[in-house]
Amino acid sequence: MLSLCVSLDVTAIRRQFPALQKSEQFVYLDTAASAQKPETVLRAMDAFSRQQYANVHRGLYPHSDEATDRYELARESVRSFVNAQHRAEIIFTKGTTESLNLIARSWGHATLKKGDAVALTLLEHHSNIVPWLQLKEEKGIEVVWIGIDEQGHVDRKELSRILRKGNIRLLSMTGLSNVLGIRPPIADIIAEAHRSEALVAIDAAQLIGHHAVSVQELDCDFLAFSGHKVYGPTGIGALYAKRELLRSMPPFLGGGMMIREVRQDGFIAADAPQKFEAGTPPIIEAVGLTAALEWLGKIQWKDIEAHEAALMKTAYATLKTIPGVRILGPRRFEEACGCVSFVCESAHPHDLSELLGQEGFCLRAGHHCAQPLHEHLGIPASLRVSLALYNTEEEVRSLGPAIMRAVKTLIG
Ligand SMILES: Cc1ncc(COP(=O)(O)O)c(C=O)c1O
Repeated sequence: MLSLCVSLDVTAIRRQFPALQKSEQFVYLDTAASAQKPETVLRAMDAFSRQQYANVHRGLYPHSDEATDRYELARESVRSFVNAQHRAEIIFTKGTTESLNLIARSWGHATLKKGDAVALTLLEHHSNIVPWLQLKEEKGIEVVWIGIDEQGHVDRKELSRILRKGNIRLLSMTGLSNVLGIRPPIADIIAEAHRSEALVAIDAAQLIGHHAVSVQELDCDFLAFSGHKVYGPTGIGALYAKRELLRSMPPFLGGGMMIREVRQDGFIAADAPQKFEAGTPPIIEAVGLTAALEWLGKIQWKDIEAHEAALMKTAYATLKTIPGVRILGPRRFEEACGCVSFVCESAHPHDLSELLGQEGFCLRAGHHCAQPLHEHLGIPASLRVSLALYNTEEEVRSLGPAIMRAVKTLIG
C-alpha cells in the first residue's frame, strides 16, 4: 500500500539545484527526458577536471592512478546502487541507448539465429526497439510484440502464450514506461520468462530514478540505465549483465583499452568489463555519476516514493479538472509513477507545449520516442508531465490554469 506521508524537505532539496534558482518562472516537468543536476555533481566534476584529471588505466604516474581509482570507484558506486554481485558486471556506456545496443550487437549478434525471437512490449522506447529491428533485418530473427490493455498493463496472458512458443530467447522490456508511467511487475515477469528459458533485459532508464533497483533480487540478465536520468551527467550510463553472460559475449567496439594483446593478425580481448569499454571512457562523467549516486543515496527511497506519489495525485487531480483533457494510461494515480501523459481534444500537444513554455512550464510534447505505443493508442502525439523529487505540489497545481490559458489562446 502506497504511503502518502511525505517527509522530504523539498525546499532544502531545491536549494541544491542551481538550475532551479532562476528569477523568472521555471517549472521543470521534463525530468523523464533528463534530470537537473545538484550542485554536488557539478562541483565534483569541476574539481576533478581542475585538479585530478588524467586518462585512466594508462599512465603509471600518480595523477593517472588517482583518476583510475575515481573511475573504478564509479563502477563500485553503480554496482552498489543496483545491488549487483560483482563490480565486473557493470559496463560503462554512453547511456541506456548504447547499453541496449550493446546487448543486441554483442549478445544478440553472437547468439541469435534465424527463427529465434526477441519479445518486446508495446510500452517500449525506440532505443529498445530499433536495435532488435536491426537484428531482424540482419539475421532474420523474429521481433514479437506483447500487447497492453487500455491502461497500459502488459497483457500477461499474451506474454505467457508467446513464451510457451519456445523460441523467445530474450524478453527486453521497460521497468517503467516513459509515456504512461506504468510500472510492469518485472520481478514476476522475469521469473516467468526464466521458466521458459528466455533471458530478460530491463530498460531501467525511467525506473532507476524513482525506485530502488536490485538486479540480484530481480534476477534480470541485463539492465540498462543512463546517468542523466538519475541526477548525474549526460554521456555516461551503465549496462549490468550477469558475469557468465559477459564471459561469452564478444566485444562490441574495438580499440584501445578492450584488449589483452594485439598482433598483426589478430587480438585477444580483455576480460569484462574492459572488453566492452573501448577507447577513452567518460572519466569526468564517471566522477559526476558517483557524486549523483552518493547524493541520491542520502535520501530514503520511501521518502522519494511518497513525495512523488503525492505529486502524481496532484497531477491527476489537476488534469482531471481541465475540460477536454484525457489522461493516457492508468485510471488510478496510485498505479502511475514518474510521468503522466495526456491529450487535449481542442489543442495539439506541440502548440500547447510551446505556449506553456512561454510561461516557463517545461513539458515534453510528441511521441516521446514511443511511436508504436502512440500508434496503438491511436494518437500521433501527447503531452507529458514528468515528476522528480525537486518538484512541488504548487508547481503541479499551477499547471492547471496555465493549460486552460493556453487552450483559450489557441481556440480563441
Ligand atoms: C524508457 C527509456 N528508455 C530508453 C531511453 C533512452 O535513454 P538515453 O537517451 O539516455 O540513452 C529513454 C530516454 O528517455 C527512456 O525513457
